[in-house]
Amino acid sequence: MVSDEHRVEQAPPQGKRTVHCADALAWLEAQGVLAGCSLITSMPDVSEFPSFTLAEWKDWFVRTASLVLSRCPDDGVTIFFQTDIKKDGTWVDKGYLIQKAAEQLGHSLLWHKVVCRAPPGGVTFGRPAYSHMLCFSRGLRADLSKSTADVLPQAGEVTWTRGMGVQACLVACRYVLDNTPTRTIVDPFCGHGTVLAVANDLGLDAVGVELSRKRARKARALRMPLGDSAPGSEPDSEPDREP
Ligand SMILES: C[S@@+](CC[C@H](N)C(=O)[O-])C[C@H]1O[C@@H](n2cnc3c(N)ncnc32)[C@H](O)[C@@H]1O
Repeated sequence: MVSDEHRVEQAPPQGKRTVHCADALAWLEAQGVLAGCSLITSMPDVSEFPSFTLAEWKDWFVRTASLVLSRCPDDGVTIFFQTDIKKDGTWVDKGYLIQKAAEQLGHSLLWHKVVCRAPPGGVTFGRPAYSHMLCFSRGLRADLSKSTADVLPQAGEVTWTRGMGVQACLVACRYVLDNTPTRTIVDPFCGHGTVLAVANDLGLDAVGVELSRKRARKARALRMPLGDSAPGSEPDSEPDREP
């Protein structure tokens, strides 16, 4: 018999991972509701659509948020990680745009966390000093006795400039594990696959969709052993424009 003092925390077995190189919108349309899944994603910014006006991108963003939310089963959650932008002297609040979509579909906001990108109190002249992390569900409600921090001091390591930080991924995946019966994470805009790698480390299965062949390849290979400070992939600061 092993005493508590000598009990070693066993890492859960790695979850399975599938990455589709495809258009997320067509892929989501073809799926219907994703039973047994929760979704965690960061949808593309207007900077990724050079031919769109800001108004066209906002319309695309709200419609795509609706599509993502509509694929979440009632016993799952959809978590968005997004950073606002400042454009033409206006502030574009992506949290607000997603909330518009969620309200129309009858999904409730379970929590809204602020993830610091720069130390509080500092001034940023480009992108804001924080990102939003918003969690929605149609059927589930938050259990206040299981609350976690509303403000994350940092997002954690990233593999590229548009990547979601490891700490933010961990908070999102742990929420799914501890508060829903769903055991597969779907990221329809998976980029390098940070969400997928963290989900797998926690024993969750993961499905990613990514339009860029290069990023889809990275997302299949990315390893993010929890506890390591650095992600298991070469940093990628190049523009990465391959479709
Ligand atoms: C904000 S990044 C996601 C970053 C990701 N969370 C990570 O940690 O690497 C958005 C991603 O969506 C991809 N993307 C843009 N349009 C897409 C589409 N129609 N279908 C699938 N992926 C798309 C981009 O190539 C980009 O990698």
